[in-house]
Amino acid sequence: MSEQIDIEQHDQLIAYLRDTGRIARDETPACRTLTGGVSNRTVRVERASGEAWVLKQALGKLRVKVDWFSDPARIHREALGLQHLATLAPPGTITPLIFEDPPQHLLAMAAVPQPHENWKTVLLAGRLEAGHIEQFAGILAAIHRRAAESRRPLREIFDDRSFFESLRLEPYYLYAAEQVPEASDFLNQLVADTRARRLTLVHGDYSPKNILVREDRLVLLDHEVIHWGDPAFDLGFALTHLLSKAHHRRDPRFVRAAVQFCDVYSTAVGPLYWNQNLQAMAARHTVACMLARVAGRSPLEYLDPRQQRAQREWAVAAARTPSTHVRDLIDLMWTLIPT
Ligand SMILES: Nc1ncnc2c1ncn2[C@@H]1O[C@H](COP(=O)(O)OP(=O)(O)O)[C@@H](O)[C@H]1O
Ligand SMILES: [Mg+2]
Repeated sequence: MSEQIDIEQHDQLIAYLRDTGRIARDETPACRTLTGGVSNRTVRVERASGEAWVLKQALGKLRVKVDWFSDPARIHREALGLQHLATLAPPGTITPLIFEDPPQHLLAMAAVPQPHENWKTVLLAGRLEAGHIEQFAGILAAIHRRAAESRRPLREIFDDRSFFESLRLEPYYLYAAEQVPEASDFLNQLVADTRARRLTLVHGDYSPKNILVREDRLVLLDHEVIHWGDPAFDLGFALTHLLSKAHHRRDPRFVRAAVQFCDVYSTAVGPLYWNQNLQAMAARHTVACMLARVAGRSPLEYLDPRQQRAQREWAVAAARTPSTHVRDLIDLMWTLIPT
């Protein structure tokens, strides 16, 4: 077995690419470590030909303040995600897989060409565009609906949920349940109900941070938590990013964007899937994620302590009287950002 390399050591990375025949012996690509992620090393490699890759190597211990571990073998799940999402998501949304090396816990995909911007940065600067929200909802609906329609063999391929457990249910919901006893029953019941729902492909990390905007088109990254499960998780997770930004910026446009997101998603996914169960579960996951992003292992860094307390109180109150429709829950945001 070859020695474990660290791709952030660019000399090691170049030697590895040469030894494995990925590049010529005399080729010296330009390497640049990318920031923004917490669970992987990410390096952009630009070859003399102009072709550019992004190499991703999974970490066993995540780069967050509290201890948080996850098996780096999950990089193989991400490679499977890249391959299958390419056929499910709208064209151009998914970066092509170049190669995978499971023993090194790494993969290479095509780099998104410059110029591009991270959508989280764009949103935090207050640059909110209806066309981006429309794509954000449309991409998710396409994945959920097409995967549900094709079912086999996707269900078997993505059956394992151990990474969803270790990267989402434990650090977000179960950890928050320990920190916030008033919401522990709500969160524990939601975990049990989520585990019982096996409906379609769930991305598991559907966040603006994992989206690049290039020429006004959204490109989706970071598929290591993908699994067959409860699509309402993606809705709650995604809505939490819009609503927490509404809260942080005290900006009603982000609440309206959350409404638009639901409208576009519901139309695109269709009435068969946009049923009462999905709407009620989406409302519960939104409450749980709003709480987890202030009381879980991965708190949102842009909320100040006062906002964190307010969001926690808002979510605890919402957990006491669950909304049956996600749209009703979004309306409750007006109590957090008075107009
Ligand atoms: N294919 C790509 N092209 C350009 N930039 C990328 C690509 N993949 C990742 N990145 C950059 O690296 C960052 C981290 O990648 P990501 O897949 O989200 O890793 P993590 O799992 O660590 O969050 C992204 O936010 C993005 O800025
Ligand atoms: Mg990421």
